[in-house]
Amino acid sequence: MDTYSFTKSQELFVRAAKVIPCGINGHFSPAMLVPPTSYPFYAERGRGARFTDVDGNELIDYTCAYGPMVLGYNNEVVDEAAARQREAGDTMGAPGPVMVELAEKMVDMLPFAAWALFAKNGGDVTSYALMVARAATGRKKIVAIQGGYHGVAAWMQGAGHHGVIDADVENIVRIPWNDVAAFVRVLAENPGQIAGFIATPYHHPTFADSELPDQGYWESIRELCDKHGVVLIVDDVRCGFRLSLRGSAEFFGFTPDLACYCKALANGYPISALVGSDALKGAAAKVFFTGSYWYQAVPMAAAVACLDELVRLDAPKRMQDFGRALTGGMQRLADKHGYELRVSGVPSMPYLRLTDDPSLMLHQRFCSECTRRGAYFTSHHNWFMSCAHTQEDLDRTLAIVDDAFAALEKSPEGQGGS
Ligand SMILES: Cc1ncc(COP(=O)(O)O)c(C=O)c1O
Repeated sequence: MDTYSFTKSQELFVRAAKVIPCGINGHFSPAMLVPPTSYPFYAERGRGARFTDVDGNELIDYTCAYGPMVLGYNNEVVDEAAARQREAGDTMGAPGPVMVELAEKMVDMLPFAAWALFAKNGGDVTSYALMVARAATGRKKIVAIQGGYHGVAAWMQGAGHHGVIDADVENIVRIPWNDVAAFVRVLAENPGQIAGFIATPYHHPTFADSELPDQGYWESIRELCDKHGVVLIVDDVRCGFRLSLRGSAEFFGFTPDLACYCKALANGYPISALVGSDALKGAAAKVFFTGSYWYQAVPMAAAVACLDELVRLDAPKRMQDFGRALTGGMQRLADKHGYELRVSGVPSMPYLRLTDDPSLMLHQRFCSECTRRGAYFTSHHNWFMSCAHTQEDLDRTLAIVDDAFAALEKSPEGQGGS
């Protein structure tokens, strides 16, 4: 099987590094891709589950832009709805009526939701949620999970991160995932001080296996929040609409007070949403939080169309089925070549790693060999499935995986394969 080269990506990156700090900052940084020479840095165009990079390489994309792509790049239904709204107007002197339509739709879809507010990024609404919890309770402290990610605001980053001062994080108390006793302890040590508990529906850190909630975990957290007047915030930015169209809290059988949505909400159009219970509507109304582009009507129209499509396609089931077929097929191929591939998390957002590889060198090599053959696999982050991944994509991906395992056996990292 031919392997790709990424020379134009690399040339463009050299130009970029002169005028953009890091060349590409944040989660798209080549620093996240190991080895960076085996990955594309710039996408030229996308269609369905694939994008073509600046070198003309076509990649079946299992990053899905780290989540926003859920129906496929350039999805016609969503793009037509957006185009119609763009013709009518986008950022104007007042929000469009589509904002009301979208709020009504989210309130209808999500059983616990009595209202919705819109912003742009996931981090906007996780910060928004903290402010609502503090406004509602008059308390300062927030309990979050060690290794949990809720965006790049200073409160969310750890002490010692560049640009973060101790005061930014002194009211954030981190506890391990699935550790109810730790939450009980923190509540006892901080009586009447905890405003909110924020966590993702299940734990999906980077560079580590995902962990589902233990039996009864969310039930206990809910009970403790009720008992101590703590606002339960579920950060559904990443999982939202890939587990259930009624919210990931419902998937795991609990009811949050606030929930944050972003990635799969509008198939790549910039919008996020905070939704909440009736009891918190008054507090949400008091918090002043806004932005120049938060009332853009085009992403709202895209979100309405995207949600309708997700319902029509029974999207979570489709993505879970595809993820199961992909990871099951990959595990069989790993076995054939003498490796063990561990899969964790949920099938629509699986985290994979080759076992007996504590340094991750082998797994990184494997992912890069697949990417060089046209299946874009990151090695440190969960992957995302979309409704646009087809049987043809699956067959092609498994052929790539088979070939990549064969190449791996010949590499220094691959010793240990049969
Ligand atoms: C669980 C979770 N919360 C919040 C965020 C932040 O979203 P954004 O990058 O859109 O600000 C992310 C982004 O990856 C996320 O995965």
